[in-house]
Amino acid sequence: MSLPDTERILLGPGPSLIPPRVLRAMSAPVLSHLDPDFVPLLHEVGASLRRLFRADDKALALATSGTGTSAMEAAVANIVTDGMRGVVIVTGYFGDRLAQIFERYGATVRRIDVEWGRAVDPQKLRDELRREGADVVGMVHAETSTGVRNPIKELAAIVRDHGAVSIVDTVTSLGGHEVDLAGWGVDVAYSCAQKCIGAPSGIAPIAVSGPARQRMVKCRSFYLDLKLLEDYWVSSKYHHTMCTSLVYALREALLMIDEEGLEARWARHERLVQYRSRCRPGPACWQDLARRTDGRKLHAPDAAAVPGGARGSARPERPQRAVRRWCRGRECVLAPAACQCLRSRAGCRAAGPACGRAGFSAD
Ligand SMILES: Cc1ncc(COP(=O)(O)O)c(C=O)c1O
Repeated sequence: MSLPDTERILLGPGPSLIPPRVLRAMSAPVLSHLDPDFVPLLHEVGASLRRLFRADDKALALATSGTGTSAMEAAVANIVTDGMRGVVIVTGYFGDRLAQIFERYGATVRRIDVEWGRAVDPQKLRDELRREGADVVGMVHAETSTGVRNPIKELAAIVRDHGAVSIVDTVTSLGGHEVDLAGWGVDVAYSCAQKCIGAPSGIAPIAVSGPARQRMVKCRSFYLDLKLLEDYWVSSKYHHTMCTSLVYALREALLMIDEEGLEARWARHERLVQYRSRCRPGPACWQDLARRTDGRKLHAPDAAAVPGGARGSARPERPQRAVRRWCRGRECVLAPAACQCLRSRAGCRAAGPACGRAGFSAD
């Protein structure tokens, strides 16, 4: 096997293309995770993440070593404990994952299941909390599996009114959509580096608001214990051997965000998605999604277009797998549930099953 020799233009909701500047930063000489020259970089990244999440001054902001799921689990592991009443809004694959993690950490979970492809109606959460209350509520801002954005500002306000803690997944929104922890009153939010931030995966931002720090529980996981991680990030107390090259990459990507300005960046993401839709209206399933979500769509490609040549295999196979096989060696734009081939636009046609539920599988 050799390394890839053709460039893939990754326009899916992650991993995204990494700017050359970020790749160059990663190749700087390796420092130890406790090197006095490295410590200020870590502090800089923490401060920059606090700005990116728009968290309050007392908030804890750092990054876990791992992909978005590590920060997802860290959020739950530091807030949820045995016997807690948890409510999780499930509008797709990642809401379901969040519910599973809540259960693993001992919560009794009540799910608010919403038809995939639709955003939750805040009234459903209000009714659920009025009925039975909750200690902690989990929700996904940008549900990658369906391309739907949930109204976190309204939902977080309801959670706060009922005295519960909110945990919000911003894996596919942070850096590309407005996220405002302090303004919206969100308690805990986590994300990843490889989507709208533009760094490689393997390091995952997380923030806990000042007030929510008082609601943290004794963490059952040593690796994901945010208090121990804070001791490392703030006071350089050894916890684990952080990959300093990934911190360089994240720092460079965050510098680029600071230079561009957050509002300008959100607007650019929105413009590009509108441009994409104008260039190519897309199959019926896109239009249906846009209509059904009342404009609450993600700033990320979500199309389910399969090039004609990628189909027709004698053996039925999942659309994504067929697309990947077809794309190999070609110049392609790849998204998890979609492939719009630059060379053969005319040959593209919709593949219904790649939408929504079936559109996101682990392969
Ligand atoms: C909304 C959402 N949450 C969580 C995750 C998990 O992130 P990771 O695959 O980086 O572990 C993803 C990944 O795509 C996601 O889209």
